[in-house]
Amino acid sequence: MNARTTRTTVITGIGSLVTNDPGQGAGPLGLLTDAAVVVDGGTVAWVGPAADAPAADERFDAEGRALLPGFVDSHAHLVFAGDRTAEFNARMSGQSYTAGGIRTTVAATRAASDAELDANLARFVREAVRQGTTTIECKSGYGLTVEDEARALRIAAAHTPETTYLGAHVVAPEYAEDPAGYVDLVTGEMLDACAPHARWVDVFCEQGAFDGEQARAILTAGIERGLTPRVHANQLSYGPGVQLAVELGAASADHCTHLTDEDVAALAGSRTVATLLPGAEFSTRAEYPSGRRLLDAGAVVALSTDCNPGSSFTSSMAFCIAVAVREMGMTPDEAVWAATAGGARALRRTDVGVVAPGARADLLLLDAPSHVHLAYRPGVPLTAAVWRAGVREV
Ligand code: NIG
Ligand code: FE
Repeated sequence: MNARTTRTTVITGIGSLVTNDPGQGAGPLGLLTDAAVVVDGGTVAWVGPAADAPAADERFDAEGRALLPGFVDSHAHLVFAGDRTAEFNARMSGQSYTAGGIRTTVAATRAASDAELDANLARFVREAVRQGTTTIECKSGYGLTVEDEARALRIAAAHTPETTYLGAHVVAPEYAEDPAGYVDLVTGEMLDACAPHARWVDVFCEQGAFDGEQARAILTAGIERGLTPRVHANQLSYGPGVQLAVELGAASADHCTHLTDEDVAALAGSRTVATLLPGAEFSTRAEYPSGRRLLDAGAVVALSTDCNPGSSFTSSMAFCIAVAVREMGMTPDEAVWAATAGGARALRRTDVGVVAPGARADLLLLDAPSHVHLAYRPGVPLTAAVWRAGVREV
């Protein structure tokens, strides 16, 4: 006899279940109605009609509400101190966003203790979980010295396996007159110190940050150290970022706000996910990219918060879904897919963003009968319950 070591729970009475597994239900969302899910320890063990659900140790009645995979937020900058309220206020009074504001946060972050940075990060992760996010990526990039970048990643790695080395966020102030020297540092000593704590390497490829050749050198050095690239691409202007991301096999090209037809075609013909960050356009009062254009071309689209103190200080994936639907030409189904399965693709994860046997039991129960309410009821807190790896967190 097999001794069962974990307890099982059946979540039944699910009015509407987003599985993101077309083999299990209707459409790309693999939608099931009157469904049940059995969780065994940290894993989904069974999915199907509530009437057929097997017995389990515990029972949770969803009372007709909607269940979906927890959100996968594949782009966030959460190791920092200080805030930039004044800068936001100035922008909303007419000033435009520049990458230069990053240096304000760099100064505050360098001055903060490890404990302070860790507590800030823990607070943001908690804030995200309360809103249904069960996987979150976290970048360095507000340290810009060997020690400060390495400690940011060390601190991040204690909270998430999805850690990204972004020493190339902007040129450190000490190297303002010697950007080539800074690229040498980022591809040399800083990379050595950071690679052990990072899964990904990223670069802000933009005027005022790093140009195409610098970005190529930085990403290539990261790849040689076993990191996989992702790129801040084409945010503030047209540029080489998207093409470089595709050429180097990056997991994602993020922002994608200014795209030529060639950029769209390159993304559509690649494995590189186009990660759209509507919070950034919202908070910098910029034009939104068209999700429709990318989807119609056949690109894979993810939605993410870009949570950071400068350009997008939101941790709400629901907010991003609502904006993507209203402003970026995406349907509610497409936006919900992009915020769950799309994020998982952008992080090259197959165990999250899906509700299927064998997947991590990362689940979001909404106080609503349908996932469409995420866009239909903007700004309304709809989290009824959240499980992370089978553990009830909310
Ligand atoms: O993704 N674009 C570069 N980095 C961030 C902004 C960071 C900041 O303003 O502090 C972004 O929007
Ligand atoms: Fe970002």
